[in-house]
Amino acid sequence: INLDDVSNLDDLDRLHIVPEKICFRYNPGPELARGNAIIGKPEEAKYGMTKEQLMTCVDWAKKKGISYIGIHTMVISAELELPGLLGTISMMFDLANEIRDKKGVTVSFIDFGGGIGIPYRPEQDPVDIEGLGEGARKLFEEKMKGFDHTRICFECGRAITGPYGFLVTKAIHYKHIYRDYIGVDACMADLMRPGMYGAYHHVTVLGKADAPKDHVYDVVGSLCENCDKFAIQRPLPEIKTGDLIVIHDTGAHGHSMGYNYNGRLRHQEILVHENGSVQQIRRNETLFDLFATLDFPNLKENTAKVTKE
Ligand SMILES: Cc1ncc(COP(=O)(O)O)c(C=O)c1O
Repeated sequence: INLDDVSNLDDLDRLHIVPEKICFRYNPGPELARGNAIIGKPEEAKYGMTKEQLMTCVDWAKKKGISYIGIHTMVISAELELPGLLGTISMMFDLANEIRDKKGVTVSFIDFGGGIGIPYRPEQDPVDIEGLGEGARKLFEEKMKGFDHTRICFECGRAITGPYGFLVTKAIHYKHIYRDYIGVDACMADLMRPGMYGAYHHVTVLGKADAPKDHVYDVVGSLCENCDKFAIQRPLPEIKTGDLIVIHDTGAHGHSMGYNYNGRLRHQEILVHENGSVQQIRRNETLFDLFATLDFPNLKENTAKVTKE
């Protein structure tokens, strides 16, 4: 169990739970002034607990006889540069030392959280993973004497799956008002990142890789939210109704962040195998799925009738 707050100790006590392994999530607050676009300044972020609270948690775990104690944090996200990632590592190594000095506990593992970014923009370079490993090793040798059995880990889901997912959508509308808009049949319920934090996702048009990018479009979904835009003022080749538009790097925080606002149904997912064959691994949602959790008289019959019609 990874506790986000000291108050969770009361929950464990109330439920008479003494985990075999336990972990505590640290929020350095003003000690780490550096902010992150996605997570925000640690001081203003809801995650984790203060150092003092974390020490209270370590005392609790010691008292309960738990010998496998870990520490966790997540202060940055989608980071491409080594100083930010190594800064997290260094901070957590210092914390491990402080816990040992003050509480006589040698933590069994340190989890640096997520944070390893991917190059969403074509001009960006991927994280220098070997450099990160090398930097982590140097910091370990410098700061972690006597921690030979302490595991260290990152949660690198985005880095592993992010670049390998694509949202394929069709241009179904255009309008020319004060800007040129292309309306597509996906919307931010399929991919929330651009609308939620202005994230850039690269956009290409199938069959037009070599066409000049001589048009500037907002590529938009159909939700009644003006932030439902996959691309804003993006130079792209001319797009015609029916063109397939590919939104890149949607393998993380894509479908899994999906929702049903405006009655939108979640899309199917297709797995492309190494040999090029394709397999549907998730079907499209239907109206029946949308109403499946509702429960009132005659609902099922009516929904079945509407779906059939
Ligand atoms: C605990 C934890 N680990 C990992 C992640 C994923 O982080 P990222 O996608 O930046 O690697 C998150 C995201 O919110 C998280 O809260």
